[in-house]
Amino acid sequence: MKPSIIAIDGPAASGKSTIGELLARRLGYLYLDTGAMYRAVTWVALEQGIDIADEEAITALAERVEINITRPTVDDGRQYTVYANGQDVTWQIRRPEVDANVSPVSAYPGVRQALTDQQRRIGRRGHIVMMGRDIGTVVLPEADLKIYLGATAEERARRRHREVRERGEVADYEEVLAAMRRRDKIDSERKAAPLRPADDAIVIDTTGLSIAEVLARVEGLVQNPKSKVQSSNGKGRAIFRRFTRSFLRLLLRLFTHLEVTGLENIPQGGPLLVAFNHLAYLDGPLVLALLPQLVEGIALEDLYRVPVTGQLLRLYGTIPVHRDQFDRQVIRRALRVLAEGKVLALAPEARMSLTGALEQARLGVAYLALRSGAPILPVAITGTETVPSDLKRLRRPRLTLTVGEVIVPPPQASKPQARRQQVAELTDEIMHRIAALLPPEYRGVYAPTPTPPPTLGEGSSNSPSPRVGRGG
Ligand code: DC
Repeated sequence: MKPSIIAIDGPAASGKSTIGELLARRLGYLYLDTGAMYRAVTWVALEQGIDIADEEAITALAERVEINITRPTVDDGRQYTVYANGQDVTWQIRRPEVDANVSPVSAYPGVRQALTDQQRRIGRRGHIVMMGRDIGTVVLPEADLKIYLGATAEERARRRHREVRERGEVADYEEVLAAMRRRDKIDSERKAAPLRPADDAIVIDTTGLSIAEVLARVEGLVQNPKSKVQSSNGKGRAIFRRFTRSFLRLLLRLFTHLEVTGLENIPQGGPLLVAFNHLAYLDGPLVLALLPQLVEGIALEDLYRVPVTGQLLRLYGTIPVHRDQFDRQVIRRALRVLAEGKVLALAPEARMSLTGALEQARLGVAYLALRSGAPILPVAITGTETVPSDLKRLRRPRLTLTVGEVIVPPPQASKPQARRQQVAELTDEIMHRIAALLPPEYRGVYAPTPTPPPTLGEGSSNSPSPRVGRGG
Protein backbone atom coordinates (compact mmCIF):
# COMPACT_ATOMS: atom_id res chain seq x y z
CA MET A 1 0.00 0.00 0.00
CA LYS A 2 1.22 3.45 -0.86
CA PRO A 3 1.62 5.87 2.03
CA SER A 4 -1.31 8.29 2.11
CA ILE A 5 0.13 10.98 4.39
CA ILE A 6 3.67 11.98 3.48
CA ALA A 7 5.58 14.48 5.63
CA ILE A 8 8.68 16.22 4.29
CA ASP A 9 10.68 18.36 6.70
CA GLY A 10 14.01 20.15 6.48
CA PRO A 11 15.73 23.53 6.68
CA ALA A 12 15.42 26.35 4.13
CA ALA A 13 16.56 25.47 0.60
CA SER A 14 16.96 21.78 1.37
CA GLY A 15 14.85 20.97 -1.69
CA LYS A 16 11.58 20.30 0.16
CA SER A 17 9.26 22.27 -2.06
CA THR A 18 10.76 21.10 -5.36
CA ILE A 19 10.76 17.47 -4.32
CA GLY A 20 7.40 17.70 -2.58
CA GLU A 21 5.71 19.24 -5.59
CA LEU A 22 7.13 16.72 -8.04
CA LEU A 23 6.20 13.84 -5.77
CA ALA A 24 2.66 15.11 -5.21
CA ARG A 25 2.17 15.57 -8.93
CA ARG A 26 3.33 12.04 -9.69
CA LEU A 27 1.11 10.55 -7.02
CA GLY A 28 -1.85 12.82 -7.81
CA TYR A 29 -1.81 14.01 -4.17
CA LEU A 30 -2.54 17.40 -2.67
CA TYR A 31 0.56 19.41 -1.91
CA LEU A 32 0.79 21.78 1.03
CA ASP A 33 3.82 23.90 1.77
CA THR A 34 3.21 25.01 5.35
CA GLY A 35 6.04 27.55 5.14
CA ALA A 36 3.73 29.59 2.88
CA MET A 37 1.25 29.89 5.75
CA TYR A 38 3.86 31.30 8.16
CA ARG A 39 4.97 33.61 5.37
CA ALA A 40 1.40 34.78 4.72
CA VAL A 41 0.93 35.73 8.40
CA THR A 42 4.27 37.57 8.31
CA TRP A 43 3.34 39.47 5.17
CA VAL A 44 -0.03 40.58 6.53
CA ALA A 45 1.66 41.69 9.77
CA LEU A 46 4.16 43.82 7.82
CA GLU A 47 1.36 45.20 5.63
CA GLN A 48 -0.73 46.19 8.63
CA GLY A 49 2.30 47.69 10.36
CA ILE A 50 2.08 45.31 13.31
CA ASP A 51 5.29 45.17 15.33
CA ILE A 52 6.90 41.76 14.72
CA ALA A 53 8.15 41.76 18.31
CA ASP A 54 4.60 42.10 19.64
CA GLU A 55 3.80 38.46 20.30
CA GLU A 56 0.24 39.09 21.43
CA ALA A 57 -0.70 41.14 18.37
CA ILE A 58 0.98 38.69 15.96
CA THR A 59 -0.76 35.74 17.62
CA ALA A 60 -4.13 37.47 17.42
CA LEU A 61 -3.47 38.13 13.75
CA ALA A 62 -2.58 34.46 13.07
CA GLU A 63 -5.85 33.43 14.69
CA ARG A 64 -8.01 35.71 12.55
CA VAL A 65 -6.23 35.88 9.19
CA GLU A 66 -7.81 33.71 6.53
CA ILE A 67 -5.23 31.80 4.51
CA ASN A 68 -6.08 29.76 1.44
CA ILE A 69 -3.69 27.79 -0.71
CA THR A 70 -5.00 26.58 -4.06
CA ARG A 71 -3.72 25.19 -7.34
CA PRO A 72 -1.93 27.86 -9.44
CA THR A 73 -4.42 30.41 -10.70
CA VAL A 74 -1.91 32.24 -12.93
CA ASP A 75 0.63 30.65 -15.26
CA ASP A 76 3.70 32.57 -14.09
CA GLY A 77 5.89 29.83 -12.71
CA ARG A 78 4.18 29.64 -9.32
CA GLN A 79 3.72 26.25 -7.64
CA TYR A 80 0.44 27.28 -6.00
CA THR A 81 -1.57 30.39 -5.26
CA VAL A 82 -1.65 31.79 -1.74
CA TYR A 83 -4.50 34.03 -0.60
CA ALA A 84 -4.43 36.00 2.61
CA ASN A 85 -7.83 37.52 3.49
CA GLY A 86 -8.85 37.00 -0.12
CA GLN A 87 -5.84 38.77 -1.65
CA ASP A 88 -3.37 36.90 -3.89
CA VAL A 89 -0.04 37.20 -2.06
CA THR A 90 1.84 34.39 -3.81
CA TRP A 91 4.85 36.50 -4.78
CA GLN A 92 4.72 39.01 -1.96
CA ILE A 93 5.45 36.29 0.59
CA ARG A 94 8.80 35.56 -1.12
CA ARG A 95 10.12 39.08 -0.57
CA PRO A 96 13.30 39.60 1.48
CA GLU A 97 11.41 41.48 4.21
CA VAL A 98 9.27 38.38 4.72
CA ASP A 99 12.39 36.18 4.69
CA ALA A 100 13.89 38.36 7.37
CA ASN A 101 10.85 38.29 9.68
CA VAL A 102 9.23 34.90 9.20
CA SER A 103 11.46 32.98 11.61
CA PRO A 104 10.62 35.10 14.67
CA VAL A 105 6.92 35.04 13.72
CA SER A 106 6.94 31.26 13.41
CA ALA A 107 8.63 30.92 16.78
CA TYR A 108 5.55 32.23 18.65
CA PRO A 109 3.69 29.27 20.19
CA GLY A 110 0.28 30.89 19.62
CA VAL A 111 1.00 31.40 15.92
CA ARG A 112 2.09 27.77 15.62
CA GLN A 113 -1.02 26.56 17.41
CA ALA A 114 -3.33 28.46 15.07
CA LEU A 115 -1.60 27.24 11.90
CA THR A 116 -0.95 23.70 13.15
CA ASP A 117 -4.68 23.21 13.76
CA GLN A 118 -5.47 24.17 10.16
CA GLN A 119 -2.65 21.98 8.82
CA ARG A 120 -3.88 18.96 10.79
CA ARG A 121 -7.42 19.37 9.50
CA ILE A 122 -6.16 19.32 5.91
CA GLY A 123 -3.54 16.61 6.48
CA ARG A 124 -5.75 14.06 8.13
CA ARG A 125 -7.88 13.76 4.98
CA GLY A 126 -4.93 11.88 3.46
CA HIS A 127 -3.54 11.77 -0.09
CA ILE A 128 -1.26 14.60 0.79
CA VAL A 129 2.40 15.61 0.71
CA MET A 130 2.96 18.21 3.43
CA MET A 131 6.16 20.19 3.76
CA GLY A 132 7.54 22.14 6.68
CA ARG A 133 9.79 22.00 9.73
CA ASP A 134 7.66 20.09 12.20
CA ILE A 135 5.26 18.00 10.11
CA GLY A 136 6.72 14.62 11.11
CA THR A 137 7.29 15.62 14.73
CA VAL A 138 4.27 17.75 15.66
CA VAL A 139 1.68 18.36 12.95
CA LEU A 140 1.21 14.82 11.66
CA PRO A 141 3.20 12.42 13.82
CA GLU A 142 0.97 9.68 12.46
CA ALA A 143 2.22 10.26 8.86
CA ASP A 144 2.79 7.05 6.88
CA LEU A 145 6.11 8.22 5.51
CA LYS A 146 8.38 10.88 7.01
CA ILE A 147 11.27 12.27 5.07
CA TYR A 148 13.81 14.78 6.34
CA LEU A 149 15.89 16.53 3.71
CA GLY A 150 19.15 18.11 4.82
CA ALA A 151 22.16 19.76 3.18
CA THR A 152 25.11 21.77 4.41
CA ALA A 153 24.50 25.49 4.98
CA GLU A 154 26.93 26.33 2.15
CA GLU A 155 25.13 24.13 -0.35
CA ARG A 156 21.76 25.59 0.60
CA ALA A 157 23.10 29.13 0.41
CA ARG A 158 24.49 28.39 -3.07
CA ARG A 159 21.07 27.16 -4.20
CA ARG A 160 19.26 30.17 -2.75
CA HIS A 161 21.84 32.54 -4.22
CA ARG A 162 21.37 30.98 -7.65
CA GLU A 163 17.56 31.24 -7.39
CA VAL A 164 17.68 34.90 -6.44
CA ARG A 165 20.05 35.70 -9.30
CA GLU A 166 17.90 33.75 -11.74
CA ARG A 167 15.02 35.99 -10.77
CA GLY A 168 17.22 38.87 -11.94
CA GLU A 169 17.84 40.25 -8.45
CA VAL A 170 21.27 41.06 -7.02
CA ALA A 171 22.54 39.04 -4.11
CA ASP A 172 25.80 38.56 -2.29
CA TYR A 173 26.64 34.92 -1.53
CA GLU A 174 28.16 35.67 1.88
CA GLU A 175 25.05 37.62 2.88
CA VAL A 176 22.76 34.83 1.71
CA LEU A 177 24.83 32.35 3.74
CA ALA A 178 24.77 34.51 6.85
CA ALA A 179 20.97 34.97 6.55
CA MET A 180 20.55 31.23 6.06
CA ARG A 181 22.52 30.52 9.24
CA ARG A 182 20.50 33.08 11.19
CA ARG A 183 17.24 31.43 10.13
CA ASP A 184 18.56 27.92 10.79
CA LYS A 185 19.50 29.04 14.27
CA ILE A 186 16.08 30.50 15.10
CA ASP A 187 14.17 27.60 13.50
CA SER A 188 16.15 24.92 15.29
CA GLU A 189 16.63 26.58 18.67
CA ARG A 190 13.10 27.82 19.24
CA LYS A 191 11.18 26.17 22.10
CA ALA A 192 7.98 25.45 20.15
CA ALA A 193 8.31 22.64 17.59
CA PRO A 194 11.97 23.18 16.66
CA LEU A 195 13.31 21.94 13.35
CA ARG A 196 14.52 18.38 13.78
CA PRO A 197 14.02 15.01 12.11
CA ALA A 198 11.39 12.75 13.71
CA ASP A 199 12.92 9.61 15.23
CA ASP A 200 11.27 7.51 12.54
CA ALA A 201 12.06 9.87 9.64
CA ILE A 202 14.21 8.79 6.74
CA VAL A 203 16.97 11.36 6.53
CA ILE A 204 18.43 12.20 3.14
CA ASP A 205 21.45 14.45 2.82
CA THR A 206 20.93 16.21 -0.51
CA THR A 207 24.38 17.85 -0.60
CA GLY A 208 25.82 17.19 -4.04
CA LEU A 209 22.71 15.35 -5.23
CA SER A 210 20.63 16.51 -8.21
CA ILE A 211 16.86 16.95 -7.97
CA ALA A 212 16.43 13.81 -10.05
CA GLU A 213 18.62 11.81 -7.67
CA VAL A 214 16.75 12.97 -4.57
CA LEU A 215 13.39 12.36 -6.26
CA ALA A 216 14.46 8.85 -7.22
CA ARG A 217 15.37 8.07 -3.59
CA VAL A 218 12.10 9.50 -2.31
CA GLU A 219 10.03 7.64 -4.90
CA GLY A 220 11.89 4.48 -3.99
CA LEU A 221 10.73 4.94 -0.41
CA VAL A 222 7.14 5.54 -1.51
CA GLN A 223 7.07 2.45 -3.71
CA ASN A 224 8.98 0.21 -1.38
CA PRO A 225 8.57 1.16 2.23
CA LYS A 226 10.75 -1.84 3.13
CA SER A 227 13.80 0.06 1.97
CA LYS A 228 13.25 2.13 5.09
CA VAL A 229 14.70 -0.70 7.12
CA GLN A 230 18.09 -0.16 5.55
CA SER A 231 18.16 3.47 6.56
CA SER A 232 20.87 4.35 9.04
CA ASN A 233 18.17 6.13 10.97
CA GLY A 234 16.01 3.02 11.23
CA LYS A 235 13.66 2.45 14.12
CA GLY A 236 15.67 -0.53 15.41
CA ARG A 237 18.77 1.58 15.89
CA ALA A 238 16.83 4.39 17.56
CA ILE A 239 15.33 1.88 19.99
CA PHE A 240 18.75 0.37 20.73
CA ARG A 241 20.15 3.83 21.37
CA ARG A 242 17.36 4.79 23.72
CA PHE A 243 17.72 1.53 25.58
CA THR A 244 21.51 1.95 25.89
CA ARG A 245 21.02 5.46 27.18
CA SER A 246 18.47 4.48 29.82
CA PHE A 247 20.63 1.55 30.92
CA LEU A 248 23.73 3.73 31.24
CA ARG A 249 21.78 6.33 33.21
CA LEU A 250 20.63 3.64 35.60
CA LEU A 251 24.18 2.33 36.10
CA LEU A 252 25.47 5.83 36.71
CA ARG A 253 22.74 6.58 39.19
CA LEU A 254 23.32 3.33 41.08
CA PHE A 255 27.10 3.23 41.18
CA THR A 256 28.46 6.76 40.99
CA HIS A 257 28.12 10.22 42.51
CA LEU A 258 27.25 12.22 39.47
CA GLU A 259 27.14 15.98 39.12
CA VAL A 260 25.82 17.36 35.85
CA THR A 261 25.69 21.10 35.24
CA GLY A 262 24.93 23.42 32.35
CA LEU A 263 22.37 21.27 30.50
CA GLU A 264 20.38 24.47 29.92
CA ASN A 265 23.14 25.55 27.51
CA ILE A 266 22.21 22.84 25.03
CA PRO A 267 20.33 24.18 21.99
CA GLN A 268 16.93 22.57 21.41
CA GLY A 269 17.44 21.30 17.92
CA GLY A 270 19.60 21.49 14.82
CA PRO A 271 23.12 20.26 14.17
CA LEU A 272 25.57 20.34 17.06
CA LEU A 273 29.17 19.29 17.62
CA VAL A 274 29.81 18.17 21.17
CA ALA A 275 33.50 18.52 22.06
CA PHE A 276 34.61 16.80 25.28
CA ASN A 277 37.93 16.24 27.05
CA HIS A 278 39.05 12.62 27.00
CA LEU A 279 40.25 10.87 30.14
CA ALA A 280 38.94 7.31 29.92
CA TYR A 281 36.81 4.87 27.93
CA LEU A 282 33.79 5.93 29.92
CA ASP A 283 33.74 9.49 28.52
CA GLY A 284 31.89 8.66 25.29
CA PRO A 285 29.17 6.63 27.06
CA LEU A 286 28.87 9.38 29.69
CA VAL A 287 28.19 12.02 27.03
CA LEU A 288 25.68 9.87 25.21
CA ALA A 289 23.88 8.98 28.44
CA LEU A 290 23.59 12.49 29.80
CA LEU A 291 22.73 14.67 26.81
CA PRO A 292 19.00 14.99 26.17
CA GLN A 293 19.31 14.31 22.44
CA LEU A 294 20.35 11.03 20.83
CA VAL A 295 24.01 11.50 20.02
CA GLU A 296 26.06 10.23 17.07
CA GLY A 297 29.67 9.46 17.81
CA ILE A 298 33.04 8.88 16.25
CA ALA A 299 35.10 6.08 17.79
CA LEU A 300 38.65 4.86 17.23
CA GLU A 301 38.88 1.87 14.92
CA ASP A 302 41.00 -0.01 17.51
CA LEU A 303 38.00 -0.12 19.81
CA TYR A 304 36.02 -2.10 17.25
CA ARG A 305 38.43 -5.00 17.84
CA VAL A 306 37.74 -5.10 21.59
CA PRO A 307 35.20 -7.87 22.35
CA VAL A 308 31.74 -6.64 23.39
CA THR A 309 32.79 -2.98 23.01
CA GLY A 310 33.22 -3.54 19.27
CA GLN A 311 29.80 -5.14 18.89
CA LEU A 312 28.16 -2.39 20.92
CA LEU A 313 29.79 0.32 18.81
CA ARG A 314 28.57 -1.38 15.66
CA LEU A 315 25.05 -1.72 16.99
CA TYR A 316 25.08 1.88 18.14
CA GLY A 317 26.34 2.96 14.72
CA THR A 318 29.33 5.10 15.63
CA ILE A 319 31.63 6.27 12.84
CA PRO A 320 34.97 4.44 12.93
CA VAL A 321 38.13 6.49 12.54
CA HIS A 322 41.74 5.37 12.30
CA ARG A 323 44.02 6.74 15.04
CA ASP A 324 46.04 9.05 12.78
CA GLN A 325 43.70 9.47 9.88
CA PHE A 326 40.79 11.81 10.03
CA ASP A 327 40.25 10.86 6.42
CA ARG A 328 37.89 12.01 3.72
CA GLN A 329 35.37 9.30 4.30
CA VAL A 330 35.10 10.09 7.99
CA ILE A 331 34.74 13.77 7.19
CA ARG A 332 32.04 13.05 4.64
CA ARG A 333 30.10 10.88 7.08
CA ALA A 334 30.48 13.41 9.88
CA LEU A 335 29.31 16.26 7.63
CA ARG A 336 26.36 14.16 6.55
CA VAL A 337 25.34 13.59 10.17
CA LEU A 338 25.47 17.36 10.76
CA ALA A 339 23.63 18.16 7.54
CA GLU A 340 20.88 15.90 8.82
CA GLY A 341 20.55 18.18 11.84
CA LYS A 342 21.93 15.63 14.30
CA VAL A 343 24.26 15.86 17.28
CA LEU A 344 27.79 14.53 16.85
CA ALA A 345 30.07 14.01 19.83
CA LEU A 346 33.84 13.76 19.61
CA ALA A 347 37.00 14.33 21.57
CA PRO A 348 39.21 17.00 19.96
CA GLU A 349 42.28 15.43 21.55
CA ALA A 350 41.50 12.29 19.52
CA ARG A 351 42.88 10.02 22.24
CA MET A 352 42.74 9.60 25.97
CA SER A 353 44.97 11.97 27.83
CA LEU A 354 48.08 10.30 29.22
CA THR A 355 48.43 12.80 32.03
CA GLY A 356 44.77 13.31 32.92
CA ALA A 357 45.11 16.93 31.82
CA LEU A 358 44.25 18.46 28.45
CA GLU A 359 46.67 17.63 25.65
CA GLN A 360 47.19 19.36 22.31
CA ALA A 361 43.98 18.98 20.28
CA ARG A 362 43.71 17.85 16.68
CA LEU A 363 42.00 20.13 14.19
CA GLY A 364 39.07 17.87 13.26
CA VAL A 365 36.32 19.42 15.36
CA ALA A 366 37.03 22.99 14.29
CA TYR A 367 37.33 21.87 10.68
CA LEU A 368 33.92 20.17 10.81
CA ALA A 369 32.37 23.18 12.54
CA LEU A 370 33.65 25.60 9.91
CA ARG A 371 32.63 23.36 7.02
CA SER A 372 29.15 22.65 8.37
CA GLY A 373 28.43 25.86 10.26
CA ALA A 374 27.32 23.69 13.21
CA PRO A 375 27.76 25.26 16.66
CA ILE A 376 30.12 23.62 19.12
CA LEU A 377 29.11 22.64 22.65
CA PRO A 378 32.11 22.43 25.00
CA VAL A 379 31.78 19.68 27.59
CA ALA A 380 34.18 19.03 30.48
CA ILE A 381 34.42 15.71 32.26
CA THR A 382 36.23 14.77 35.47
CA GLY A 383 36.47 11.61 37.49
CA THR A 384 36.21 8.94 34.80
CA GLU A 385 39.97 8.39 34.95
CA THR A 386 39.81 6.92 38.45
CA VAL A 387 36.69 4.77 38.02
CA PRO A 388 38.52 1.42 37.85
CA SER A 389 40.60 2.10 40.97
CA ASP A 390 37.58 3.56 42.81
CA LEU A 391 35.51 0.48 42.09
CA LYS A 392 38.36 -1.80 43.13
CA ARG A 393 38.46 -0.03 46.47
CA LEU A 394 34.67 -0.18 46.66
CA ARG A 395 34.49 3.60 46.51
CA ARG A 396 31.73 5.34 44.59
CA PRO A 397 33.40 7.22 41.75
CA ARG A 398 32.72 10.97 41.74
CA LEU A 399 31.99 12.06 38.18
CA THR A 400 31.25 15.52 36.88
CA LEU A 401 30.03 16.62 33.48
CA THR A 402 29.86 20.34 32.82
CA VAL A 403 28.28 21.79 29.71
CA GLY A 404 29.50 25.21 28.59
CA GLU A 405 27.95 27.80 26.34
CA VAL A 406 27.73 27.14 22.63
CA ILE A 407 30.48 28.48 20.37
CA VAL A 408 29.24 29.64 16.97
CA PRO A 409 31.87 29.24 14.23
CA PRO A 410 32.53 32.26 11.99
CA PRO A 411 31.58 32.00 8.30
CA GLN A 412 34.26 30.00 6.52
CA ALA A 413 36.91 32.16 4.82
CA SER A 414 37.29 31.74 1.07
CA LYS A 415 41.13 31.68 0.89
CA PRO A 416 42.82 28.41 1.93
CA GLN A 417 45.41 30.13 4.09
CA ALA A 418 42.79 32.14 5.95
CA ARG A 419 40.76 28.96 6.37
CA ARG A 420 43.73 27.17 7.95
CA GLN A 421 44.17 30.06 10.31
CA GLN A 422 40.47 29.90 11.23
CA VAL A 423 40.71 26.19 11.99
CA ALA A 424 43.72 26.74 14.28
CA GLU A 425 42.07 29.66 16.09
CA LEU A 426 38.77 27.89 16.54
CA THR A 427 40.53 24.76 17.87
CA ASP A 428 42.27 26.92 20.42
CA GLU A 429 39.05 28.61 21.42
CA ILE A 430 37.21 25.30 21.84
CA MET A 431 39.98 23.89 24.04
CA HIS A 432 40.28 26.99 26.16
CA ARG A 433 36.53 26.97 26.70
CA ILE A 434 36.68 23.32 27.80
CA ALA A 435 39.66 24.19 30.04
CA ALA A 436 37.69 26.98 31.68
CA LEU A 437 35.02 24.45 32.68
CA LEU A 438 37.61 22.15 34.28
CA PRO A 439 39.35 22.38 37.65
CA PRO A 440 42.87 23.84 37.26
CA GLU A 441 44.69 20.50 37.49
CA TYR A 442 42.86 19.21 34.41
CA ARG A 443 43.64 22.16 32.14
CA GLY A 444 47.03 20.92 30.93
CA VAL A 445 48.37 22.67 27.85
CA TYR A 446 45.29 24.90 27.75
CA ALA A 447 45.82 26.39 31.18
CA PRO A 448 45.79 30.18 30.99
CA THR A 449 49.35 31.45 30.80
CA PRO A 450 50.36 33.26 33.97
CA THR A 451 50.33 37.00 33.50
CA PRO A 452 52.64 38.83 35.88
CA PRO A 453 51.92 40.50 38.22
CA PRO A 454 49.67 37.80 39.69
CA THR A 455 46.05 38.85 40.22
CA LEU A 456 43.49 37.64 42.69
CA GLY A 457 40.84 35.19 41.57
CA GLU A 458 42.29 32.90 38.93
CA GLY A 459 44.73 31.38 41.41
CA SER A 460 45.08 28.45 39.10
CA SER A 461 47.31 30.37 36.72
CA ASN A 462 50.30 29.61 38.90
CA SER A 463 51.35 26.89 36.47
CA PRO A 464 49.05 24.03 37.38
CA SER A 465 51.00 20.82 37.27
CA PRO A 466 49.28 18.16 35.25
CA ARG A 467 48.58 15.09 37.28
CA VAL A 468 50.80 12.21 36.45
CA GLY A 469 49.29 8.83 35.86
CA ARG A 470 45.62 8.15 35.29
CA GLY A 471 45.06 5.94 38.30
CA GLY A 472 44.03 2.97 36.23
O1 DC B 1 10.08 26.70 4.13
P1 DC B 1 10.04 28.23 4.18
O2 DC B 1 11.40 28.85 4.05
O3 DC B 1 9.06 28.82 3.26
O4 DC B 1 9.53 28.54 5.69
C1 DC B 1 9.42 29.84 6.15
C2 DC B 1 9.54 29.89 7.66
O5 DC B 1 8.42 29.31 8.28
C3 DC B 1 10.76 29.21 8.23
O6 DC B 1 11.68 30.15 8.72
C4 DC B 1 10.30 28.37 9.35
C5 DC B 1 8.81 28.51 9.37
N1 DC B 1 8.10 27.23 9.30
C6 DC B 1 7.83 26.60 10.46
O7 DC B 1 8.23 27.07 11.52
N2 DC B 1 7.11 25.45 10.48
C7 DC B 1 6.70 24.91 9.33
N3 DC B 1 6.00 23.78 9.37
C8 DC B 1 7.00 25.53 8.10
C9 DC B 1 7.72 26.69 8.11
